Amino acid sequence: MRVFITGASGHLGSAVVPELLQNGHSVLGLARSDDSAKKLTDWGAEVVRGDLDDLDRLGAAAAAADGVIHLAFRHDLLVSGDLATAAESDLAALRAMAEALVGSDKPLVSTSGTGMLAAFVHGRTGTEADFAPGGGYRIDAENYVVSMADKGVRSSIVRLPQVHSELDHSGFIPSLIRFARQNGFAGYIGDGSNRWPAVHTLDAARLYRLALESAPAGSRLHAVGDEGIELRVIAEAIGRGLDVPTRSITTDEAPQYLGFLATFAAWDNPTSATRTSELLDWHPTHPGLLADLAAGFYFG
Ligand SMILES: NC(=O)c1ccc[n+]([C@@H]2O[C@H](COP(=O)([O-])OP(=O)(O)OC[C@H]3O[C@@H](n4cnc5c(N)ncnc54)[C@H](OP(=O)(O)O)[C@@H]3O)[C@@H](O)[C@H]2O)c1
Repeated sequence: MRVFITGASGHLGSAVVPELLQNGHSVLGLARSDDSAKKLTDWGAEVVRGDLDDLDRLGAAAAAADGVIHLAFRHDLLVSGDLATAAESDLAALRAMAEALVGSDKPLVSTSGTGMLAAFVHGRTGTEADFAPGGGYRIDAENYVVSMADKGVRSSIVRLPQVHSELDHSGFIPSLIRFARQNGFAGYIGDGSNRWPAVHTLDAARLYRLALESAPAGSRLHAVGDEGIELRVIAEAIGRGLDVPTRSITTDEAPQYLGFLATFAAWDNPTSATRTSELLDWHPTHPGLLADLAAGFYFG
């Protein structure tokens, strides 16, 4: 397939683009800068120059492709706390691309986060069957993508947990490490028993390819390797990596010590990928988060 990918130059893109090329697909990647365009051409992809807000260009690129993978996200707005605008921009871009695919039966694989489940799944492990009816960051975009299955789009959603590997330079794990370095200790909130799920970047990339090739229309998929690691255990691994102590902080102290991660670091988000594994024969084979933290490359 000739696949149009937004966010092709980012962390996930740096694994999804090679995964597709190595498996016989060709890639047309959105790039908003010369640096991003060069990355894509170096990897063997073609480039469409443009921004997420260039809705006509997104629609035209989607219409000309055999399938679309949407990875781009305004993380600049997430870090500055303006999630609402980031979510609006995400939904507008999705609408532009999905409308161009109506009636085509072409695949549209979009991206969400397992973290959305933390808001409404309590006291149990979240599954692919869990969803919220509407109203919020990621939720509206997910529901929109799934709804396009009724309009002749083979749409699917990949929910990502913490994605980790040597390709990860700006996700939540590098941010936790940066805060621990600044603070002189690795912090967790309360008793740190709340859990984050995780996946290796290369395992996630394989799931994007499988979803593109064969996910049934309207699927919600979980790219989860580790179902849930306690934040205290993650903090201890970071403490070892930086050779700094580990300690508990209060919820009130979290913004001071964990900045924009304060809310996310409180999430309890155990998540299963059982249905995804069965549906697409997807089985993570790469190291887990604690192994990657122990390997040392995050602390170089
Ligand atoms: N990594 C994780 O642990 C994780 C966890 C849960 C969900 N997710 C989601 O997975 C998706 C991919 O994440 P990632 O880790 O690959 O993010 P990333 O490394 O920050 O990459 C983001 C990509 O989006 C592009 N982008 C950002 N703003 C844009 C704009 N205004 N116009 C056009 N392109 C723009 C970036 O282009 P440039 O290269 O030009 O900057 C880059 O290619 C995102 O939706 C993210 O929220 C990631």
